[in-house]
Amino acid sequence: MRDTALLRLAEAAMAKSYSPYSNFRVGAALETKNGTVYTGTNIENISFGATICAERTAVFKAVSEGETEFVKIAIVSDSVDYVFPCGICRQVLAEFNDGSMKVICSNNKGDYKSFLLDELIPFTFDI
Ligand code: THU
Repeated sequence: MRDTALLRLAEAAMAKSYSPYSNFRVGAALETKNGTVYTGTNIENISFGATICAERTAVFKAVSEGETEFVKIAIVSDSVDYVFPCGICRQVLAEFNDGSMKVICSNNKGDYKSFLLDELIPFTFDI
């Protein structure tokens, strides 16, 4: 799928954000190897640590449907600044990917730039 199309799906997911504490909406759209797209948004909790990011919502939706091979993830927010996946989300993506998937980060002006997961989380922990 084109990067722009994946970003549009992430925007649609962002509209469902439950973020009454930060008022910071995030949306993600994760494309699997077979072309299926799983979307996610951030879901906050009054016990702040129970909050989940948009990216992990998308990954966990995919994995719970038996999909673990990812090629791309697009991330959007309301921010004028580019939004990048947090460290925990990078780690979760790295659990399922060798670092070659594309991570598309955007700002609210419609600009976006892409990275390999490996660039965002090099030297991952391994056992
Ligand atoms: N958030 C995400 O959804 N993804 C990120 O990569 C960073 C942070 C959410 C969590 C919280 O609901 C809000 O943004 C503010 O931190």
